Amino acid sequence: MKIIKLQHHEIPPYDLLLLADPSYELVEAYITDGECYVYKENEDIIGVFVIVPLSEVTVEITNIAVRGDRQRQGIGKKLLQEAIKVAKSSGYEWIEIGTGNSSIGQLALYQKCGFRISDVIKDFFIQHYDKIIMENGIQCIDMIRLRLEIQ
Ligand code: ACO
Repeated sequence: MKIIKLQHHEIPPYDLLLLADPSYELVEAYITDGECYVYKENEDIIGVFVIVPLSEVTVEITNIAVRGDRQRQGIGKKLLQEAIKVAKSSGYEWIEIGTGNSSIGQLALYQKCGFRISDVIKDFFIQHYDKIIMENGIQCIDMIRLRLEIQ
């Protein structure tokens, strides 16, 4: 499975990026600050992740998404493993990721890949998003932060 870095002249896959984060403004901000990687089949983008440095030793996966019709086929796990590999080869010691309290599948995926819960940012989604977000019948209110030591 070939995952490649999106070049500066290429248009980021906003449809996928907005699946993971409904805020266009936040997506714009972190694709400007970070690096966007895509998984393509022929010319179609099937998956994406974005990594943004937080410090000299820590990098964050700010976005990870797989096209709706290709979810639950192992692609998200492969993208996450590739993000870890990229961060490791760039010399980072820690990789972080944040998701909503209601994102049950995402929390399962991240922990299956070795991430441990490190923090909870209370009310994050109420303070930063205009609309109420519901998933799995649960309101998305708090951000669960997870991290993995990679060196
Ligand atoms: N419900 C329960 N468990 C799930 C779910 C789900 N909906 N999705 C993934 N998992 C868990 C399972 O444990 C799964 O293992 P299994 O298939 O053996 O049961 C494991 O994750 C690996 O699943 P993959 O098939 O590799 O995951 P997928 O290719 O579907 O990608 C992703 C996961 C990226 C979360 C995808 O579902 C997606 O794009 N969702 C919409 C966007 C999104 O929410 N992105 C994350 C937001 S947070 C952030 O971006 C930092």
